[in-house]
Amino acid sequence: MGTVDSLMNPYLPLAQGAHAGLDIVVSEAGPADHDELYSAFAGIVTAGEGYPQAPGPLSVADFDDYWLDHKSLVAVARLAGRLVGSYYLKPNFAGRAAHIANAGYFVVPELRGRGIGEALVRHSFDEARRLGFDALQFNLVFESNPARRLYERLGFQAVGRVPEAVDGEDAIVYWRRL
Ligand SMILES: CC(C)(COP(=O)(O)OP(=O)(O)OC[C@H]1O[C@@H](n2cnc3c(N)ncnc32)[C@H](O)[C@@H]1OP(=O)(O)O)[C@@H](O)C(=O)NCCC(=O)NCCS
Repeated sequence: MGTVDSLMNPYLPLAQGAHAGLDIVVSEAGPADHDELYSAFAGIVTAGEGYPQAPGPLSVADFDDYWLDHKSLVAVARLAGRLVGSYYLKPNFAGRAAHIANAGYFVVPELRGRGIGEALVRHSFDEARRLGFDALQFNLVFESNPARRLYERLGFQAVGRVPEAVDGEDAIVYWRRL
């Protein structure tokens, strides 16, 4: 298992500045972000929002494995210094299909609906292209997830449906060329 240190690539920082009309700063996650990132994502899991982990406490090891290890990039968004969201990028497949990226996103609940999620998705498009990916695929978007509207507005096509994927709810597979 890797550590957050392994994510500190020398070729960054990411582009920074105003996003979503809010003065958020998006940068690559580093060791100093770890504990806040863990707490924020553990809150998402506890609430059962958008991810398949069983709702409830999330161990640090499971967080590291799911959000940090083997990723091409992990980014964090901060507003006035506070961590308000994050995304990761990784290859969705091996070998000849590794040009297709996969990503996960979250925004802290109290700041949703203000465009931070859209800013993160758009940011991830640029970073994925920079990393050499030419498409982005989401494998497990719960049918009831309000994020589907965002993804469809940003050009994702529903390319599949996984019946009864999570607790009897279908999940949608989304794909978009970059
Ligand atoms: C998905 C997520 C990252 C979107 O973040 P966000 O900052 O709310 O995104 P935006 O403000 O750009 O809004 C995205 C859309 O969702 C709607 N929305 C989602 N959650 C909302 C909320 N709690 N309050 C208001 N609007 C919300 C917005 O109105 C907007 O709809 P529109 O595109 O039709 O205008 C965030 O809802 C989240 O962290 N969800 C839990 C984790 C999750 O499901 N991640 C994605 C897994 S596939």
